[in-house]
Amino acid sequence: MSIVNIGKNISSTLLLPNVGKNRISTILQTYSNNDWRRYIDPNIGLNVYSKTKVYEDNMINMYVATWKPGYISTIHSHNPVGCWYRILQGELVERQYDPDTLFLSRFSVLNNPDTMYINDSIAFHSVENRDDINSAASIHVYPKTINV
Ligand SMILES: [Fe+2]
Repeated sequence: MSIVNIGKNISSTLLLPNVGKNRISTILQTYSNNDWRRYIDPNIGLNVYSKTKVYEDNMINMYVATWKPGYISTIHSHNPVGCWYRILQGELVERQYDPDTLFLSRFSVLNNPDTMYINDSIAFHSVENRDDINSAASIHVYPKTINV
């Protein structure tokens, strides 16, 4: 299934009643096509994070993100609706922080096809590509409404 069709599948699934967050994660994990590579920004240099929009409709925005070697994001929040993300290539380290205390609450080493969901009531996080040589890539899905 193409990455765009994965986006459409997620959108139509989000319209169903009682959709659990894991169901969306499972759809993301079924994606096995290589067509995400056409969304990689070829012009980013070292230590840079880049995000390209793949698909949007009235339910979601979907992006492919590229993480150059050594890049680490700031600790950041999302919105209440949150997001799912799935590793496509490489390895990413996620550190989750308690939203109230900012104490480290979870440490995860993520590889293809690991998929996470996060929102502001779960945690804030920072994400790092700690590899010195290899870029990493991931899919990010941002729902526009919360019904999961
Ligand atoms: Fe994030």
